Amino acid sequence: MKVVSSVVELEAVLAQVRNENKTIGLVPTMGALHEGHGSLVKRCVAENDYTVVSVFVNPTQFNDKNDLNNYPRTLDADCEMLQALGADLVFAPTVEEVYPEPDTRSFSYPPIDTVMEGAKRPGHFNGVCQIVSKLFYMVCPDTAYFGEKDFQQIAVIRAMVKDLNIKVDLRPCPIVREESGLAMSSRNTLLTPAERQVATNISRCLFESVAYAKEHSVLETHNHVVAQLNEIPGLEVEYFQIVDDMSLLDVHSWADAQGIVGCITVYCGARPVRLIDNIRYK
Ligand code: PAF
Repeated sequence: MKVVSSVVELEAVLAQVRNENKTIGLVPTMGALHEGHGSLVKRCVAENDYTVVSVFVNPTQFNDKNDLNNYPRTLDADCEMLQALGADLVFAPTVEEVYPEPDTRSFSYPPIDTVMEGAKRPGHFNGVCQIVSKLFYMVCPDTAYFGEKDFQQIAVIRAMVKDLNIKVDLRPCPIVREESGLAMSSRNTLLTPAERQVATNISRCLFESVAYAKEHSVLETHNHVVAQLNEIPGLEVEYFQIVDDMSLLDVHSWADAQGIVGCITVYCGARPVRLIDNIRYK
C-alpha cells in the first residue's frame, strides 16, 4: 500500500493505474478509522481494481474551531488498518496541499443542504462539497463510498455530483453499529465509558420507535423519541426530524412520502459530544 501526501504523487500513481485500464474506487475519510469506515473500504476493495482512501480532516467543513481541534488524528493506526483491509493507496495531504489558496467556491442545494445539519451547522455542507469535489477532481474515481450514518451528507453530495456533471457512481453503505447498537463514529472515542453506555439509548429509542410508529402518527412518534431521550441524564436532543428521504423535508403523515427516515442529533455527556444517527421508517 502506498501512502502519498501530494497531489502530484497522487496523480502520477493514478495515471499508471488508469493506463492499465483498472477501475478506481474512492473512500473519502477524515481518519480516526473504525469498523464503519472498514466496511466502506472492504466494499470498495471488492468492487474495484484499485482502492484509494483519503485521510484528511477538512477544516472548511467545521463551523466550530474546538470541534476541529479536538477531532481525533490517528494516521499511523489508520494506515495499519487500511493495509490489512487491502487498500492500495492512502492520500493524506496537508491543509496547504489541498487549499493552496482559500476555497471561495460556494455550493447551494436547498432545501437539501439547508435543513437539519445545514441549519445547525452553517457552512458545513459547503465545506463538504468543497473537499469532496476536489477529491473527485484529483482522483477521478469510478465509484465512491459514503456511510449512511451521514444520511444528509449523501443527499447533498448526490445533488452536487448532478449539478457539476461529475462522472462518479455514488455507493451509500449501511450504518455499522457497535454490539450495543451505538452507530460507529470517530467521535465515540471522545466519550467516557459511562457516556458511551448512556449513548446506546439513542439507537435503542430509534429502533423501538419503528414499532411505535406503526400505531402512532408522525408527530406522536417524534414527540415520543424526543421525550424518552431527553429524560435520560446526560442526553439532550438537538433535533429529531422525520423526513422524506428524497427532499429531506418534514413529513406530517406516514403517507406523505415513499421513503421516510428519522434523523437525530443528540448531545451526550459532559464535553458534550455531538452524535448523529438515523432510522428508516419506510
Ligand atoms: O464523512 C466524512 O468523514 C467527511 O464529511 C468527508 C466526506 C470525508 C469529507 O471530509
